[in-house]
Amino acid sequence: MYRLIFIAFLASVRAQLELEGACSLATVNAVENFNATQFSGQWFQIARIANEENGVCVTSTFSPVVENNLLVSATYNSRQVFNKTETWRNATVTPGTGKVLVFTYPDQALDTLVLDTDYDGFALLYSCWANATHKKVWAWQLGRANAFSAQQTTNVNKAIEQNADIKAAQWFRVGHSKQDCQTSGASVLLSPLIFSLAAYNLLSKLL
Ligand SMILES: *[C@@H]1O[C@H](CO)[C@@H](O)[C@H](O)[C@H]1NC(C)=O
Ligand SMILES: *[C@@H]1O[C@H](CO)[C@@H](O)[C@H](O)[C@H]1NC(C)=O
Ligand SMILES: *[C@@H]1O[C@H](CO)[C@@H](O)[C@H](O)[C@H]1NC(C)=O
Ligand SMILES: *[C@@H]1O[C@H](CO)[C@@H](O)[C@H](O)[C@H]1NC(C)=O
Repeated sequence: MYRLIFIAFLASVRAQLELEGACSLATVNAVENFNATQFSGQWFQIARIANEENGVCVTSTFSPVVENNLLVSATYNSRQVFNKTETWRNATVTPGTGKVLVFTYPDQALDTLVLDTDYDGFALLYSCWANATHKKVWAWQLGRANAFSAQQTTNVNKAIEQNADIKAAQWFRVGHSKQDCQTSGASVLLSPLIFSLAAYNLLSKLL
C-alpha cells in the first residue's frame, strides 16, 4: 500500500503539462525590456506547474552579466530539498530570439519567457518545448519572499489568465516551512508510516 501511495505521489508530481500544437514564444505576452540587473538575486519558488523537479523549499539565484545595459549571460541556480536532502539544479541563461531567454540545464535547454514581474515582489516564468505535434509547458511563480502578498497574488493570477497554455493548469504549491526546508534527520523518512503520511500530505496539496 505504501508503495502504491508513493507511486501515485510521484506520478502526480511528475505529470508534465502537454498540449497539442506548437510553441508560440514570439507572440506570447511577456515583459517588455526585461531588466536582468533588476531581476538579479534570490527568488523563492512559490508554485510550479508539475514538472521533473521534485523538491520543496526551492530558491533560485539569478546572477547576470550585463554589458552596456544588455544581458550577456547569467546563471540561474536552484536549490531544492527532496527527501530531506539538498539538491541543486543549475542553469546557464543566454539571450535567445526576441524576448526569449534560453535556460540550459545539464539535461535540457528551455526557451523561457518572463511573462510578468515587478522585479521586487513577484515573477512568472514560462517555458515551452515542442515536437512536431505537441508542446510541453513549464511555469513557475516566483517571489522575493516565500509567500505572496494579496496584491502580488492578484498580479500573478492576472498574468496567468492572459496565457492560454497555463490559465487552466494545476499548480503545485512549493512549501517553505521549517519542516519542508529541513535537510538532516533523513531517518524520519525511513519510517514507512511517517513517510506515507508525508506522501499523503503532499499528494493532498496537489489535488
Ligand atoms: C536596469 O536596472 C538598473 C538598476 O535599476 C539600471 O541601472 C539600468 O539602467 C536598467 N537598464 C535598462 C536597460 O533599463
Ligand atoms: C530517502 O532517503 C533515505 C535515506 O537517505 C533513503 O533510504 C530513501 O531511499 C530515500 N527515498 C527516496 C524516495 O529517495
Ligand atoms: C549549483 O550552484 C551552487 C551555488 O551556486 C553550487 O554550490 C552547486 O555546487 C552547484 N551544483 C551543481 C550540481 O552544479
Ligand atoms: C510528440 O510529443 C507527444 C507528447 O509527448 C508524443 O505523444 C508524440 O508521440 C510526439 N510526437 C513525435 C512526432 O515525436
